[in-house]
Amino acid sequence: MGKPLDAPLGSNSLSVRDNRTGKSYSIPIVDNSISATDFKAMSAPRAPGEREENETEKGLRVSDKGFLNTAVLRSEITFIDGDAGVLRYRGYPIEQLALESSHLETAYLLIYGSLPTKSQFQVFQDEIMHHSVIHADAEQFFRSFRYDAHPMAILTSALAYLGSYYSQANPSLQGQNLFTKGDKASLAVMDKQIYRLIGKATTLAAMAYRVRQGREFVTPPTGLSYTGSFLYQMDYLGQENYVPNPVLEKALDVLFLLHADHELNASATTVLQTSSSLVDPFSAIAAGCASLYGPLHGGANEAVIRMLISIGKPENVPAFIEAVKKREKVLSGFGHRVYKTSDPRSFIVRKTADEVFKITGKDELLETAMALHDAAMKDEYFIKRKLAPNVDFWSGLIYRAMGFPNDFFPVLFAVPRVVGWLAHWRQMMLQTGGVKIWRPRQIYVGETKRDYVPVDERIAVVGPKKTPRRWNTLGFQSGRILRRSRASTQSCEFRRVAGAIVSR
Ligand SMILES: CC(C)(COP(=O)(O)OP(=O)(O)OC[C@H]1O[C@@H](n2cnc3c(N)ncnc32)[C@H](O)[C@@H]1OP(=O)(O)O)[C@@H](O)C(=O)NCCC(=O)NCCS
Repeated sequence: MGKPLDAPLGSNSLSVRDNRTGKSYSIPIVDNSISATDFKAMSAPRAPGEREENETEKGLRVSDKGFLNTAVLRSEITFIDGDAGVLRYRGYPIEQLALESSHLETAYLLIYGSLPTKSQFQVFQDEIMHHSVIHADAEQFFRSFRYDAHPMAILTSALAYLGSYYSQANPSLQGQNLFTKGDKASLAVMDKQIYRLIGKATTLAAMAYRVRQGREFVTPPTGLSYTGSFLYQMDYLGQENYVPNPVLEKALDVLFLLHADHELNASATTVLQTSSSLVDPFSAIAAGCASLYGPLHGGANEAVIRMLISIGKPENVPAFIEAVKKREKVLSGFGHRVYKTSDPRSFIVRKTADEVFKITGKDELLETAMALHDAAMKDEYFIKRKLAPNVDFWSGLIYRAMGFPNDFFPVLFAVPRVVGWLAHWRQMMLQTGGVKIWRPRQIYVGETKRDYVPVDERIAVVGPKKTPRRWNTLGFQSGRILRRSRASTQSCEFRRVAGAIVSR
């Protein structure tokens, strides 16, 4: 740093001249990346009139809203080439894994770095299935949700709730280096939480499903595969010798494998950001689940079905495309931050859909989906922006055909993604040099220093509006006592004791 620009052409460095000061810097390039902290050494005197909040004298900041080109760690887990439509888990192409492997075998691969031997897999599978059972107390927790609670709200809360059972896995109670030591005991504690989280993810998800359907909870079965057990836990209604349909069990397994990881998407990043404070893994995974819930991420498969229902039939596709182009609508299930060609998973999902439809019959929305897909792929708007179908475009149709309610689709994404979140969590805990808390910088553009203004001297600026209140459970509003009007309890109308009706 601070050297003249004399590096020979072809050397692995970046020459930068700061035109504010005339100083030149040579920044090393490692693995085709430069370190943002190297720019911190480039300081300059504050220009006349420049805001002190720019912190010019403290060094240059690197701005990257939305992490468009910032690498936050070194990873050995998943590789994506978005231009070529390539996805590899630990070096293995996703197409090969989908064809040859299973979700649990792939989970082992993602978390521990290599494909398991037969005996390694047996241990891993046994541990996960053994840890699928949940304390009976949890039933009360699930029953405390309202009948119409979104299952992702239930699952997110349940994952955090789960952590409350395992004080031995909590760095706040056991010491902050519980998971970062990397010794035998620490690795064993880590493995156990991995088994618990993967094993119980299906149980929590199935309980969220059953409580919504008004079904009694069931104990996870023995002797079934991971997805077979999941289907049992959702569908079992007292049948003798319940056996999940093998085609649907396999299809769900393939979908789980495809959803197991996708490098540093919003939810994996959230898990790592949260874990960087060394919080317990249950809290970190719950945070990831909350992030996945959003419609730009794991909520997209649900949004695709709502969109297809709103379009209704193939004839309405051109009008919908026009509305998208006018930015009145979004084509859910299209576009991706990384893929600028078709998402490689979407081809496998499309093929899996055909297998499922042979059992369940074709979904009535399939034709509309195909018409929409074909129209978008030919349209200049989408071609120019490199918008192609992502994994969510077809997966919702499979889930629908299998009889899952729309709002359960993101849960079917979150359950397998627990694997990827754990792989990233484990890698971060064991990374060379320890864990550094993630604390991004900001560009402060707010008010500069100013003095407190006494209340009577303030000029009103636009602020929050009072919310229109219908009622409040204590029967108070605007400081006056309200009493429920006898005639209107159903419609939640209230009248003040003092007289005037304040809300209807
Ligand atoms: C996934 C997604 C959030 C990626 O966002 P991004 O990388 O920030 O891409 P941008 O929002 O910058 O999109 C680039 C351009 O394509 C347009 N675009 C992106 N996705 C679009 C979509 N699904 N429908 C219509 N237009 C879209 C944007 O409006 C923008 O157009 P502009 O350059 O004229 O302003 C975005 O494509 C999206 O919202 N897709 C739909 C939701 C979805 O399927 N999510 C699941 C992802 S696996």
